[in-house]
Amino acid sequence: MTTQYKKFTRLIAKWPVDNSKAERDLGKFIRDKVKAAFESNNKNNLDTEFCNRQYVSLNKLADNHYKNKYKRTNTSTATGLNTEECNVILSTEVLEYLKEENKGQFNRINIALSKRALATEAFRYKDHTPVLLNKVIKHLKPSDGDVFIDMTFGAGGHSRKILESADCKLITLDRDPIAFDKAQKLGEEYPNRVTPLLGRFSELPHLLKEKGIRQSSIDGILFDFGCSSMQMDNGERGFSVSKNGYLDMRMDAGRDPNQITTRDVLATANENDLYKIFKIYGEEKKAAKIAQTIIQARYMIKNVDTTHELVDIVDSCCPDEFRLDKLQRPQSNATKIFQALRIFVNNELNELNYGMVLAKYYLKLNGRLVTICFHSLEDTIVKRHIAGNIVNEVANPIPLRYLSPLLVQDQDTINQFLDTPWKAVNKHVEVPSDEEVERNPRSRSARLRAAIKIK
Ligand SMILES: C[S@@+](CC[C@H](N)C(=O)[O-])C[C@H]1O[C@@H](n2cnc3c(N)ncnc32)[C@H](O)[C@@H]1O
Repeated sequence: MTTQYKKFTRLIAKWPVDNSKAERDLGKFIRDKVKAAFESNNKNNLDTEFCNRQYVSLNKLADNHYKNKYKRTNTSTATGLNTEECNVILSTEVLEYLKEENKGQFNRINIALSKRALATEAFRYKDHTPVLLNKVIKHLKPSDGDVFIDMTFGAGGHSRKILESADCKLITLDRDPIAFDKAQKLGEEYPNRVTPLLGRFSELPHLLKEKGIRQSSIDGILFDFGCSSMQMDNGERGFSVSKNGYLDMRMDAGRDPNQITTRDVLATANENDLYKIFKIYGEEKKAAKIAQTIIQARYMIKNVDTTHELVDIVDSCCPDEFRLDKLQRPQSNATKIFQALRIFVNNELNELNYGMVLAKYYLKLNGRLVTICFHSLEDTIVKRHIAGNIVNEVANPIPLRYLSPLLVQDQDTINQFLDTPWKAVNKHVEVPSDEEVERNPRSRSARLRAAIKIK
């Protein structure tokens, strides 16, 4: 039955939401039937043949088998469900069956399911929910008269809490014009306390200079790296695996006319470059095959233009795979590819490295730094800046354990690498509680580090 479940979720997840089909939704009809068949406690009553027939019919629809009978348009769908919703609904029914079939596995899946239901709730949030909010405040320790920089304003959840915590001043930065608008609105709520800036970390020195803000003048700096929910959940921005849209992924949203889009990358990069992007920034095990398929599609059919086209191409390279995320929830096969392209298009890791260098220059002595990372590529750079493994202000790609004087470097050079202006507040990263992850599943990969500038 697990196979049936996989087949159904993979198939139905391909069709995006279509609220206009509310009363004639084939997907709902089929789910009700499947549910009735699975709800029985007596597994002999399960109509596997029925499931198979429904699967074949759905597959024919997906393959446009009835193209002469029913004309399809780009926007026509058959289920009225998005990926998250269809995973929640189908797994509910399938669980009933699995409970009988395989009692040992049941508990694990049941836990995953309860989290899945919550995930769907969180998915409806419009604004970004700030992660690790109390821990951020605990480490920034806002006091009256302090000056902070929120380097990644987003929807301003952390910024608002900083402003509420003390009579302090706040400089906000974000490269996304939508976030900048929100920062300006927050400034109106807290007159004379907020200085909103629009730009990237790499533009910050020039932006601060214009405002007359000097180095070594800031009490606390916060980085909450990655994308906001407003970016991820807006299909038109092209970040989302589940929402269809043109593959854009520029956090700056066209602010910089020279910044390339993901579509440009997929239309122009050669196979080897695509492979390297997917392998290095996505740590994707099928990087070579996916790169080759994109190039083949480009030459034989068309450029990959939309998020769903990219998801379909990746799926075609992973026909028997059913990936799960850290919460054991079904995850699109394309998630890592999307992450890789997003990092590349936005030059995220270089920006992050530069941001860490700026934090060192702009914080006062004893100033507080707080960072929140969402994957190991980000966290490794932060960790090396704090612990010391920096060469010419760039996080060393080689881990410390390979820096032995017996190998290549002399002890003086190694000491230069290890010289750090930071004192880590915690030995290990801090992570969200189970309760926070349940409330806000997007916090699940968050890793917080805090450090004090000591020289
Ligand atoms: C995870 S969100 C921050 C959410 C925010 N802490 C909140 O509470 O709403 C990350 C934000 O950082 C911004 N960002 C990412 N890289 C940036 C960079 N190099 N320069 C400026 N902003 C950046 C993104 O546009 C996004 O809005």
